[in-house]
Amino acid sequence: MTRETSSPEETAAVGAELAARLEPGDVVLVSGELGSGKTTFVRGACRALGYDGPVTSPTFSIGHVLPGRVEIAHLDLYRLGSLSEEDPSLLEDYLTPERICFVEWPELGERALGRPLARVRLEHRGEGRRRIVVG
Ligand SMILES: Nc1ncnc2c1ncn2[C@@H]1O[C@H](COP(=O)(O)OP(=O)(O)OP(=O)(O)O)[C@@H](O)[C@H]1O
Ligand SMILES: [Mg+2]
Repeated sequence: MTRETSSPEETAAVGAELAARLEPGDVVLVSGELGSGKTTFVRGACRALGYDGPVTSPTFSIGHVLPGRVEIAHLDLYRLGSLSEEDPSLLEDYLTPERICFVEWPELGERALGRPLARVRLEHRGEGRRRIVVG
């Protein structure tokens, strides 16, 4: 599906819509330029999965595990290159069959990520607007 949003709330709602279709073990790759709304999208998905706490990109690790109705792994691989020489076990710690996993900047760990269920791409479309392709 493709959506155009004009606010962060609308982008979060698209994340929630996708979340309704997810099951434990699913991996969603969330791509897009800096500030395109990846974390906003994931936050909306987390809310729909029953997690009400903060959703921010991790600073000192590559991921967070968040307690929703199912466990949620939220990864951001932006700094992966500097963290390790692509040690796959770094990702495996987060990707378990019980969790739903969202990965920002997945390009940086693609080889270790296996087959994703869904790919989400966000694009800037001028002031406050974003194009979101979920496929
Ligand atoms: N339609 C929109 N959808 C999503 N975010 C929007 C929209 N319009 C404006 N914004 C703003 O754009 C910013 C998106 O930030 P966010 O952290 O979600 O992006 P990101 O892609 O995760 O960034 P990074 O590459 O740093 O991880 C927020 O400040 C948000 O308020
Ligand atoms: Mg982010």
